[in-house]
Amino acid sequence: MTREGFWLFAYGSLMARPRLPWRERMEATMPGWTRRFWQGSHDHRGRPGAPGRVLTLVPEPDRGAPPCVGFLYFLPPAVARGALTRLDYREKNGYVRTFHPVIDRFGTAREALVYLAGPGNPAWLGPAPLSDLAAQICAAEGPSGTNTAYLFDLHRTLARLGLEDPHVSDLVGAVRARLNPA
Ligand code: BEZ
Repeated sequence: MTREGFWLFAYGSLMARPRLPWRERMEATMPGWTRRFWQGSHDHRGRPGAPGRVLTLVPEPDRGAPPCVGFLYFLPPAVARGALTRLDYREKNGYVRTFHPVIDRFGTAREALVYLAGPGNPAWLGPAPLSDLAAQICAAEGPSGTNTAYLFDLHRTLARLGLEDPHVSDLVGAVRARLNPA
C-alpha cells in the first residue's frame, strides 16, 4: 500500500480540510453506505463524560437509497506512509482503517481506504431520535471547537459541492430550531 500509494475515500471533514499531500482528487460514491452522526467524540468535539457526536458511515439497509457521495484522494508512494501516520493519529478515537469498493467519477471501481467507526468501539454512541442528537450536539464542545461548528462546517461543505445529505440537513434544521426557538 505504501509502496504503490493508495486511494482514500473522504466523507466528512476530510472533504474540506484533508491537510494531506494528495496528488489527485475526484468525486466518488460508496454504494450501500450512508453518513450518520453515531460516533462519539471525546477528544475533538466533546470531552470525556460529555462526548460530542461526529460522523461515521454505516450500512444503508434501503437498497434503493442513493450511495454516499464523497471525495477520493490519491496519496502517492512518496507520501503514503506519512499520510497514514497522520490519519491514524487524527482518527484514533474509534476509527479503523477499512477497504471498500468505491466508484470514481468515471465509473471505475476502485478499492479505497475508508476510516470507519463501527458499533462496539469504545466511543460508539449509535442511533438516537433526531431531537436527542440535536440536543447533544448543541451541548458539546472540545479541544477542536464546538460540535455545532463541526456540523455546520460539514453542511456548508456539502452544500458548496452540491451534495445534499438528508441526515445532515435534518440535523442542521433540528439544531437551528434549538438554538433559535420561534
Ligand atoms: C472523512 O472525512 O473521511 C472522515 C470523517 C470522520 C472520520 C474519519 C474520516
